[in-house]
Amino acid sequence: MARVTLTQHLIEQQRAGRITADLRLLIEVVARACKAIGVNVSKGALAGVLGEAGTDNVQGEAQKKLDVIANEILLQANEWGGHLAAMASEEVEEVHQIPFDYPKGGYLLLFDPLDGSSNIDVNISVGTIFSVLSNPVDGPGEPGEIAFLQPGTEQVAAGYALYGPSTMFVLTVGHGVHGFTLDREMGSFVYTHPFMTIPVSTQEFAINMSNMRHWEAPVQRYVGELLEGVAGPRSKDFNMRWVASMVSDVHRILTRGGVFMYPMDAKCRDKGGKLRLMYEANPMAMIVEQAGGAATTGRERILEVAPQRLHQRVPVVLGSSEEVERVTRYHLDPQ
Ligand code: AHG
Ligand code: MN
Ligand code: MN
Ligand code: MN
Repeated sequence: MARVTLTQHLIEQQRAGRITADLRLLIEVVARACKAIGVNVSKGALAGVLGEAGTDNVQGEAQKKLDVIANEILLQANEWGGHLAAMASEEVEEVHQIPFDYPKGGYLLLFDPLDGSSNIDVNISVGTIFSVLSNPVDGPGEPGEIAFLQPGTEQVAAGYALYGPSTMFVLTVGHGVHGFTLDREMGSFVYTHPFMTIPVSTQEFAINMSNMRHWEAPVQRYVGELLEGVAGPRSKDFNMRWVASMVSDVHRILTRGGVFMYPMDAKCRDKGGKLRLMYEANPMAMIVEQAGGAATTGRERILEVAPQRLHQRVPVVLGSSEEVERVTRYHLDPQ
């Protein structure tokens, strides 16, 4: 039986009136760019793509060579397509305009070209995260930062590529979450995970425990209860996983449930949090909600945060709704 591919899935979404032809073509271009990023990632030391680039990004992070390579691949792949009004990237301070002599379209593309890049030199899975908005600016003018500052509820598509033991592409256009696995012989993404769903409850949590002394009281209380296990107030034992690649931690939660937290802490408070709203928290929040999970900053729904700056950071609590609701409740009505 012929296997359904991403291309066929997208054509069916277009026929069902859920996406436009332009959005379908944009997603295809992004998926193809992710395949090219995956080829570079999988070469590792063989292609001299590991290690530092010797430059810093707007986040104040030392860029890895693959951060820069992945960023270039996505910018170049998407400039000529004619579907975009502009782009924004973790690795680029300003809005990236489409070259003046290229065709333009009605969408804005935002991305984290290489997520989890601190893992690349130790050969642990990394990914790419992307988000698509409609350009609110009518007419030929170049959209500035303001055009991007839309709440996550305005996203028309969100997804990620995961460069793991297998390369996967996970996508939502607002009608469930669908997973595709790269068939390297054919070079196509095969539809392997229809309607990915996050279980409501879980016994697995993900947080960087080394930050414990910096957490606010509600997170101290919540994690403290988990660690007491079956003898504690939760009456069950919990397991812990922390990959330090958000894409890997979120994919695990989409596959078997769990709760992921990168909360506000004393270390990242002055920056507003660790993870970036526009191209990490928002796309992952759309995916998680579309899979039946929940995603808050600890105090409010991530998708309803009104963005103030392109590279703004937010605290993140996402995953199995039962746990996200509990953590959020501890923030809102601390005893
Ligand atoms: P990026 O590599 O795109 O900068 O993102 C890294 C993020 C995210 O992927 C991960 O969940 C988090 O940083 C890990 O932070 P710690 O290294 O502090 O655990
Ligand atoms: Mn980074
Ligand atoms: Mn990231
Ligand atoms: Mn990144």
